Amino acid sequence: MRAQLHDIVLAYDASGDGRPLLFLHGYPLNRKMWRPQLETLTDAARVIAPDLRGHGESNVPDEPYTVDRLADDLVELLDNMGLAGPVVVGGLSMGGYVALAFYRRHQERVAGLILAATRAGADSEAGKANRDKAMALAREKGVEAIAESMLPKMLAPESYPSKPGLVHELRHIMAQTPLNGVIGDLTAMRDRPDSTELLGGILEPVLVIHGQEDQLIPPSEAEAAFARLPNARLALVPRVGHLLNLEQPEAFDAEVRNFLRSF
Ligand code: MLT
Repeated sequence: MRAQLHDIVLAYDASGDGRPLLFLHGYPLNRKMWRPQLETLTDAARVIAPDLRGHGESNVPDEPYTVDRLADDLVELLDNMGLAGPVVVGGLSMGGYVALAFYRRHQERVAGLILAATRAGADSEAGKANRDKAMALAREKGVEAIAESMLPKMLAPESYPSKPGLVHELRHIMAQTPLNGVIGDLTAMRDRPDSTELLGGILEPVLVIHGQEDQLIPPSEAEAAFARLPNARLALVPRVGHLLNLEQPEAFDAEVRNFLRSF
């Protein structure tokens, strides 16, 4: 499906009935990463998975963007879908940065949050420098070079030999991301504000979920966020890495189902 926003078109999938649950993909991915949840969580929620601007089948802007812009796009999408009430906002990794921006800017639209494989803090100075290096790599060598550099860190080490189909699919999804999407994401992530202080004021229910073998964002980030959140549950999932919803959809879905039943 497609929604015309004020300046771009966003593509999205929606399936299931019940409470709206917005799932926001990570970098440099697109809504295809929510394929299992679009199929299996449909009895528990109305799962809505958009391609953020610059990704998948959504329009690719000429200019870089911010996490705030990505969050505001989602409010426009919900308005376009006639969903004026609060929704559960779930984001994985960069999607989690956008979910926190969504909360900061549109708290009245949030029924609950799912923070998956993400962190609340901003980039360190070294992290910001790495974003600039990645932008240079993308411009010089293309998005395929970004995909190749990210691929070995996306899953738990044991998932590479045991899930070749998933590895193949991931490489394909990442390499499809347009250059301006990669540059836009890296700019948005580099410049995102620190949300650590925000956490203590989030009274809505939050599920913090993280793979114990995440090679990109350590599980200690989930524990640190959980410690600050007043109304959260923490799920550390064994034997999975960064893309836990794809590596072990059953375990991920079970935690989400329990969470949705809890409020
Ligand atoms: C992601 O998986 O969305 C990104 O790798 C997160 C990041 O680079 O900070």
